[in-house]
Amino acid sequence: MIDGFGRNINYLRVSVTDRCNLRCRYCMPEDGVSHIQHTDVLRLEELALLIRVAASIGIKKVRITGGEPLVRKNVTKLVRDVGAIKSIDDVALTTNGILFQELAEQLKDAGLKRVNFSLDTLRDDRFRYITRSEASVSAVRKAIDLALKLGLNPVKLNVVVIRGFNDDELLDFAHLAWAYPLHVRFIEFMPVGDLLFWERQRLVSMAEMKELLEQRYEMIPGKRVYGNGPARYYSLVGGEGSIGFINPISNHFCGECNRLRLTCGGMLRACLYDSHESDLKAALRSGADEDALRQIFIDTINAKPEKHKMETGWGSENRRRMYQIGG
Ligand code: GTP
Ligand code: 5AD
Ligand code: SF4
Repeated sequence: MIDGFGRNINYLRVSVTDRCNLRCRYCMPEDGVSHIQHTDVLRLEELALLIRVAASIGIKKVRITGGEPLVRKNVTKLVRDVGAIKSIDDVALTTNGILFQELAEQLKDAGLKRVNFSLDTLRDDRFRYITRSEASVSAVRKAIDLALKLGLNPVKLNVVVIRGFNDDELLDFAHLAWAYPLHVRFIEFMPVGDLLFWERQRLVSMAEMKELLEQRYEMIPGKRVYGNGPARYYSLVGGEGSIGFINPISNHFCGECNRLRLTCGGMLRACLYDSHESDLKAALRSGADEDALRQIFIDTINAKPEKHKMETGWGSENRRRMYQIGG
């Protein structure tokens, strides 16, 4: 469906849980998190039904997110149900990778096309610090290797760049994109939720990242990498993969925005930044039929704002945190 600003809305990001097996400092608050009640989380059948309704108004791409989507029981079944919807041609996953190895083959069998891994550092001590966990980088590295081996293509790495934390690792990440068919995306640190860990001086702009990378690599713009998100890719001369940038702060990509977000509590969000949400769960559980649900999708798309105002902060009315929205 085309929205009021001429954008084709064909991508739905579905957060299947607000739980996570890590506690990243920029995502989850220090003193634990209050998760929504089990009964308030949409059942997998409810999620599948809503995705079918979304498909009927033109959603063709679905990304499963969280929290950490792989902590949700039977997430494979959802992947299978979504993959079975004829008009959906892309089912992807964004994960921290910790549980990926044990589920990878069944996810692939269920129809998962590709996966994006979140990994902000290649050093164990930093990994433990940022994720507030005892997990190790090698678990994620092995998951990435397995995704490549299984032919889940393209395999991408999301690196949120944070000054004073990992801005000295950009060349190490770029080396991975050079040596392997991996697409490493550097993300500008966004002020989301309670501004956890976010400070303006921690933001590294894409221009600064690129300048640093160009000290070692010749980067050629315009590389085509399959995807539905806002990343822009560069190939590295002589390299296997690519470098991508997601730069919501230094460049408004809202003019090309194609997406909606569904939270695990059944709220439909037209924009990451805008606090307005439509309550699909309430409608669904009070007996709304598919036409009525479809109308909620249509109204939400029609109310999609033109652009975010993230450069001025997150906004006090905008209470949700990243683990509740799913990135
Ligand atoms: P591809 O289809 O592979 O391009 O996936 P993607 O980039 O859409 O998904 P992923 O979950 O890997 O998201 C990567 C990052 O992009 C996350 O930090 C998201 O929050 C960010 N991002 C995605 N869409 C938007 C958006 O509409 N606005 C903003 N500001 N950031 C976004
Ligand atoms: N700024 C930029 N990216 C973020 N992510 C989570 N919080 C932020 C933030 N404040 C990223 C995660 C994951 C993706 C879904 O969103 O690292 O890769
Ligand atoms: Fe979990 Fe991802 Fe949030 Fe880290 S950033 S706590 S891995 S959802």
